[in-house]
Amino acid sequence: MKRSSCYNGYSLFLTTLMLCVVARSQLTTDFYSTTCPNLLQIVRREVQKAIKFETRMAASLIRLHFHDCFVNGCDASVLLDGNDGEKFALPNINSARGFEVVDAIKTAVESQCSGVVSCADILAIAARDSVLLSGGKSWRVLLGRRDGLVANQTGANAKLPSPFEDVDTIINKFAAVGLNIIDVVALSGAHTIGQARCATFNNRLFNFSGTGAPDSTMESSMVSDLQNLCPLTDDGNKTTALDRNSTDLFDNHYFQNLLNSKGLLSSDQELFSSTNLTTKVLVQAYSANQNLFLNDFANSMIRMGNISPLTGSSGEIRKKCSVVNS
Ligand code: HEM
Ligand SMILES: *[C@@H]1O[C@H](CO)[C@@H](O)[C@H](O)[C@H]1NC(C)=O
Ligand SMILES: *[C@@H]1O[C@H](CO)[C@@H](O)[C@H](O)[C@H]1NC(C)=O
Ligand SMILES: *[C@@H]1O[C@H](CO)[C@@H](O)[C@H](O)[C@H]1NC(C)=O
Ligand SMILES: *[C@@H]1O[C@H](CO)[C@@H](O)[C@H](O)[C@H]1NC(C)=O
Ligand SMILES: *[C@@H]1O[C@H](CO)[C@@H](O)[C@H](O)[C@H]1NC(C)=O
Repeated sequence: MKRSSCYNGYSLFLTTLMLCVVARSQLTTDFYSTTCPNLLQIVRREVQKAIKFETRMAASLIRLHFHDCFVNGCDASVLLDGNDGEKFALPNINSARGFEVVDAIKTAVESQCSGVVSCADILAIAARDSVLLSGGKSWRVLLGRRDGLVANQTGANAKLPSPFEDVDTIINKFAAVGLNIIDVVALSGAHTIGQARCATFNNRLFNFSGTGAPDSTMESSMVSDLQNLCPLTDDGNKTTALDRNSTDLFDNHYFQNLLNSKGLLSSDQELFSSTNLTTKVLVQAYSANQNLFLNDFANSMIRMGNISPLTGSSGEIRKKCSVVNS
């Protein structure tokens, strides 16, 4: 296996795929070192508290950062309240969660360093801490993002990937924000923790794509289990673990599940079962090598966190994460 290092000394994989398109970041790890020296400890403490109260919160916080970054860049637009907010876009409504935890972190941060730390940066740090506290590997979070002034519901509907889309469509959505195939597969590994509603996978259980049968790429005992959990008469709001092997642990079992036809979402299983050999080889590599996965995941999170940040005097530092300053 050929390996090369791309940047930052992290090991990446599949030299032939390497795009190395990330522009040199304007963000820095020490952005708040004088203005809010205890920032990282404050966020860590609050995230730890929230996860202790509810284990799933780690997953919910990671997803918020992802859903923020794919729409208008990482600018905390996902946090804004209002009828035209991203919260009401299809990928978020009845599923995006953790907003009150973000508010609690912000309150704790404001009490020590008022008006200097952006909500977008809080999301990035909270996502990193959530990975680490769930058993994953840490990384140094780049900081200095500012908060956006508008949300974009249309953008959230258009840009966030759907579990019903095929691999090519999802790869294209990642490419649209500057992320490559390695990022697609590595970041999908976030589904090693957290939950999904029946509505996001029940199309696979009874009459998949008009075949009159369940999705043949789902293992049969898992099909029966999920048919019981998600009868067609149900409203689709019940949830189950995205990784049924080690639900709360940030490990590579998500990828091992895919090899065993135990991916929950169609978009998960397709990474292994579609005709695209590139994603399949990556799934196999991550399923065999947890360290490779955790390193690539950290690297891809840094790349995702770099999507179109507002810097300098663009945007603002929100006082409250759910509303723009008056
Ligand atoms: C590759 C395309 C992706 C698709 C199609 C997708 C789709 C989904 C869906 C449908 C759910 C369940 C939502 C619900 O119950 O309504 C979910 C949950 C989740 N997603 Fe993704 N996702 C993708 C990529 C990512 C990425 C890149 C991350 C983060 C790096 C991520 C992190 C999560 C987490 C942690 C959860 C569980 C959240 C919770 O339990 O609150 N996903 N995803
Ligand atoms: C919102 O997103 C849509 C679709 O991506 C885009 O066409 C539009 O310009 C965006 N609007 C704003 C205000 O950013
Ligand atoms: C499955 O769906 C197809 C297309 O929607 C439909 O024609 C067919 O009757 C369905 N089969 C069963 C067994 O429900
Ligand atoms: C799920 O729950 C939400 C909020 O409780 C409700 O509005 C919705 O109608 C339910 N059903 C579906 C399929 O989302
Ligand atoms: C999870 O996967 C491991 C390794 O494949 C296996 O030994 C273990 O029994 C599985 N655990 C569950 C709960 O499925
Ligand atoms: C997988 O998809 C990517 C992006 O669409 C494409 O560039 C690549 O050629 C595909 N690989 C295979 C083996 O189908």
